Amino acid sequence: RIASLVRAGTPLADWPADYLHVDDNIRRRGALLGEDFVPGAALQAAMARGRQGWLEEVRISGLRGRGGAGFTTAVKWMACRDAPGADKVVVCNADEGEPGTFKDRVLLASQAERIFEGMTLAAWATGARQGLLYLRGEYRYLLKHLRAVLALRRAAGLLGARILGEGGFDFDIDIHLGAGAYVCGEETALLESLEGKRGTPRIRPPFPVTHGYLGRPTVVNNVETLAKTTLIAVQGGAAFAATGTPQSTGTKLLSISGDCAYPGVYEYPFGVTIEHVLEDCGAHDPQVVQVGGASGVTIAGHEFHRRIAFEDVPTAGAFMVFDGRRDPFEMARNFVHFFAHESCGFCTPCRVGTALLKGYMDKLASGKGAKMDLADIEWLDRLLKNASHCGLGSSAPNPVIDTLIKFRPAYERRLVSLDFKPAFDLDAALE
Ligand code: NAI
Repeated sequence: RIASLVRAGTPLADWPADYLHVDDNIRRRGALLGEDFVPGAALQAAMARGRQGWLEEVRISGLRGRGGAGFTTAVKWMACRDAPGADKVVVCNADEGEPGTFKDRVLLASQAERIFEGMTLAAWATGARQGLLYLRGEYRYLLKHLRAVLALRRAAGLLGARILGEGGFDFDIDIHLGAGAYVCGEETALLESLEGKRGTPRIRPPFPVTHGYLGRPTVVNNVETLAKTTLIAVQGGAAFAATGTPQSTGTKLLSISGDCAYPGVYEYPFGVTIEHVLEDCGAHDPQVVQVGGASGVTIAGHEFHRRIAFEDVPTAGAFMVFDGRRDPFEMARNFVHFFAHESCGFCTPCRVGTALLKGYMDKLASGKGAKMDLADIEWLDRLLKNASHCGLGSSAPNPVIDTLIKFRPAYERRLVSLDFKPAFDLDAALE
């Protein structure tokens, strides 16, 4: 549906109302969705403050990474600016692969100007001259549209040499297409892939801010993070920080899917409760919400009062609703299959561990599981968490462990019953 809207060039304001939802509280205070954007306005405002002044504004805003981990953006940008080397790079991570996450796709389709302007704002802060947007392979249908927006920006003097005229800086952006591997969303695997190599995550530290693309100091930011910086440039850091919670400032886009009447992309101030979101999206009888996708947190009914925020329930954006008809065990089994398929195979704990986990879940599903298998799953969880080379392996057991704790009967009813009568009653014979 989004693809047809993009191909037809439909302006965001004309998109069907049931696809984009902006919480009324923030519509008045400035939000990404549904807000007008004048290309170049954010850049002008940031350049007028000077590089240091602009960085200070980002620091005041409290902006944290929207890719899931929530690292402070100003700290990342300052570390890159201060790293030795004049050939800095800004990378936009548009490899949105987490199951249940599609908010970056909507931004890429409807707010590409903002994303490219955000990359340019990062370049202004760090001194980078090269920008690379790594686009998820499955989003290749957006490539033509994105390239057209880049061409328009070049023509308008918002990219290329001497941005915004005399005294301006040089910066340009290229787009690279991924080939469909989930692991390439991990920033260092993404950098390897950008360099034309197999997407295997690197060991961190060193972090990309000092050793990134081709060993150069590199800022890697998520699509939504970069788009948000345009709001900070125009509104100012303090205004941005006035929304949300003290530790999680601003708004968050959620990709809402599953058993609800109104799935779509929603924008909320950080701190919104899960039950508030469930009410808005028309979820009847919700049993489980998987926040943060397959690698995220499984939220059961008694936790619906919890808040979407880095300090409570963090998320890159996925908000998947499962109602009472769904089986939490099957949900977790599905995710485990996904991880076993997507493991890059580089490290043994993840390659073998995810396959073993899948095997245990399939064994339980076939009704042949034993109590010992549950203990083995818990052991595998510890092994994957401690020994995996990257986040894919360490987060793969999350949905299993969460559901095992919160929905244990869904596992126990699949165990082989030990309540059977042996054909030969040894005790009776001995008597
Ligand atoms: P992380 O916490 O290790 O790093 C977050 C960011 O901060 C990175 O850019 C890293 O380079 C930077 N950073 C951390 N410490 C630093 C330091 N000392 N100096 C400079 N920079 C530093 O998290 P990671 O492993 O990059 O990402 C994990 C997150 O990704 C999880 O929260 C998960 O939910 C999310 N995720 C998102 C997906 C999506 O489709 N958006 C897919 C899968 C996972």
